[in-house]
Amino acid sequence: KILILDFGSQLTQLIARRVREAQVYCEIHPFDVGEDFIRAFAPKGIILSGGPNSAYAALDWRAPEVVFRLGVPVLGICYGMQTMAEQLGGKVAASGKREFGYAEVRVTAPNRLFGPLHDRRDEEGRAVLEVWMSHGDKVVALPPGFAVIGSSDATPIAAMADEARGFYGVQFHPEVTHTLKGKEMLERFVHEICGCGRDWTMPDFIGEAVARIRAQVGDEEVILGLSGGVDSSVAAALIHRAIGDRLTCVFVDNGLLRLDEAEQVMATFARNLGVKVIHVDASERFLSALAGVADPEQKRRIIGRVFVEVFQEEAAKLPRARWLAQGTIYPDVIESAGGKTKKAASIKSHHNVGGLPETLNLKLLEPLRELFKDEVRELGIALGLPHDMVYRHPFPGPGLGVRILGEVKREYADILRRADAIFIDELRRADWYDKVSQAFAVFLPVRSVGVMGDARTYEYVIALRAVQTQDFMTAHWAELPHALLAQVSHRIINEVAGINRVVYDISGKPPATIEWE
Ligand code: XMP
Repeated sequence: KILILDFGSQLTQLIARRVREAQVYCEIHPFDVGEDFIRAFAPKGIILSGGPNSAYAALDWRAPEVVFRLGVPVLGICYGMQTMAEQLGGKVAASGKREFGYAEVRVTAPNRLFGPLHDRRDEEGRAVLEVWMSHGDKVVALPPGFAVIGSSDATPIAAMADEARGFYGVQFHPEVTHTLKGKEMLERFVHEICGCGRDWTMPDFIGEAVARIRAQVGDEEVILGLSGGVDSSVAAALIHRAIGDRLTCVFVDNGLLRLDEAEQVMATFARNLGVKVIHVDASERFLSALAGVADPEQKRRIIGRVFVEVFQEEAAKLPRARWLAQGTIYPDVIESAGGKTKKAASIKSHHNVGGLPETLNLKLLEPLRELFKDEVRELGIALGLPHDMVYRHPFPGPGLGVRILGEVKREYADILRRADAIFIDELRRADWYDKVSQAFAVFLPVRSVGVMGDARTYEYVIALRAVQTQDFMTAHWAELPHALLAQVSHRIINEVAGINRVVYDISGKPPATIEWE
């Protein structure tokens, strides 16, 4: 397995995904994780990520010395290369101007990292690689033992290697697709240089995960809150594969779900997979707790609190349950405070249900903790979950509660559900569903005047939202075809009583957010 030490780059997760795609297991840990941890981890190779700092200025942002003494290969990327150079006796300096974007690197010496890779050859027949750069500083003097293996016009030491020790540094980013041969470079590093086998595959993972769950749980019972979202669904299917009937899922209908959602969850899990699912219709309880409340954060708190109460009551009916299973996935683990380096700012705050494990006094079972989202999806398919469920857009925990602006009422939720279903249905028909990251309807409790037939109407407004994004931290509104928008608007106004106007949201994030509340 490979250890990735994170110096705070936004791209660190991409490095890990490329390594996993090469079928090699890896984990990301903060660069300042202890020496003991690194020794115990026993990596076959180490990758030092990029980061926002200056290697000649930030004296405390260093790789632990043990990294260079374990006798395993090390690859430094961007900042990782710079700190490697500084720590091993080379020199880094500010380069005056930032180099950002496309660059060409000439391979200047044969080496195992690049091997035969090239995107073209120059006039003298040397290999040229098209890469993506993003840096202000650069290495200006090599550490002893190193040779230059790649140069660009702006950066003479764009890549360096000490082949004897298996130490490599690249100033560019092999983890992004703009570096055309980047994926192959990372594959060469983990396979050829570190000697890792291709043993991280989905069937292997299922086998190992099933064995691990059985060993962990023994003959005890497990309870899981099934939301219908990808993560909890895949966790449920996996745990069911391991322990069958000793898993009980609790599906809480809070009255704020999408059209027919409860029905679909019950059909998939209870009927098709034979999973034990308790379906709790708590919609009345949620809606009455929300009556008269207009503030978005207060609504979130109420929905979260009632969920915990309902779940606890159900758990109390299962006295034999000793474990609480959750669909925590790897990005949750590394982004939550514990995973990030002490020094890096925490970037994303987490919304998902906290509080349950403490109050329930159950042990935590998190079988997806080491998987990325795309791996979770692959696993879901391998476990027999329907494609539409596994590739569904994310849906917020508070559900329609934050898509009905202001006070939530059952009447509004019923209208919104139907409008939303029409929007999604038309997106699927037009082959646009998979081209957007998230799409939904929003209920605006304002009335506007319209005319239908001979009559004047005075009804509510539906806003449509569709965005494209990589990470949900920034997003573009999707440029849906006008004909598609026209069809959605036409159907909503004709089929959903109470709506006489449909608008499309053309705000990016930032400054808007994806949800309206
Ligand atoms: P925003 O609106 O912050 O949304 O741009 C970013 C992503 O987070 C989801 N979201 C939530 N998910 N509980 C959740 O589980 C919440 O309270 C919540 N608020 C926003 C949103 O759907 C989008 O995918």
